[in-house]
Amino acid sequence: MSDDTRFTGLPEHIPTHVAIIMDGNGRWAKARGLPRLAGHKAGTENLRRVIRACVEFGIKYLTIYAFSTENWGRPADEVAGLMNIIKEVIDKELDELNREGVQLRHIGHLERLEPTLQQKVRHAVELTAHNDRLILDIAFNYGGRDEILCAASKMLQDGIQPDQVTPELFDSYLFTSGIPDPDLIIRTSGEMRTSNFLIWQSAYSEWYFTPTYWPDFDREELRKAIFAYSERDRRFGKVSSKD
Ligand code: IPE
Ligand code: IPE
Ligand code: MG
Repeated sequence: MSDDTRFTGLPEHIPTHVAIIMDGNGRWAKARGLPRLAGHKAGTENLRRVIRACVEFGIKYLTIYAFSTENWGRPADEVAGLMNIIKEVIDKELDELNREGVQLRHIGHLERLEPTLQQKVRHAVELTAHNDRLILDIAFNYGGRDEILCAASKMLQDGIQPDQVTPELFDSYLFTSGIPDPDLIIRTSGEMRTSNFLIWQSAYSEWYFTPTYWPDFDREELRKAIFAYSERDRRFGKVSSKD
């Protein structure tokens, strides 16, 4: 039996929207005596596997945290390396993702990225806009506080009156407009914090933490996370549906 057919079982209730904080690339590299960028490359390779597993499992939305507004504070060579990696990924993977029916979206501030990268992202979004097998939201130059402030500022610019402000209207001003809130948020590498990811949208998400570093988070680990999710009792402030 090949590795890929070892485990095919999935629980009945799978999350519609999975979001992942892909953390631990640097520590993965350090543990192997490699430079941090080698960890980012390995993390990017792993992303292909996880996207494929999401398509296979029938997950409709996947949001991945690839670069935060705070990551600009890293050493210049690491930031430049990360920008190059995202460009290479788009160049190398776009056609195949498109063939597989993946729709690419971007959340975060595109206009603050270098022009060639902006252009590649816009092209990828346009090319895949008609796909609907998996909606892949890439959070790149994304920060939750930044998103909320930006939404508030746009609402003021549009002359929205205080009594018009509802959760639904606010949602429509976020980068994630039109995307349902994440059901399950996974963070790899053992850290247990949001690091400014989807802080509005995660109000009732289920969290799953694993010590595994992102480059090692494979299909089977994803399946385990989905099983853990299926055993949660989501109450949304009410009483259990099982009572
Ligand atoms: C996550 O891995 C990738 C990005 C933040 C771009 P890290 O680079 O944060 O890896 P660690 O946390 O240092 O191990
Ligand atoms: C969060 O990871 C950002 C991404 C995974 C892109 P960080 O490694 O930047 O978060 P902190 O600094 O440990 O909170
Ligand atoms: Mg980290």
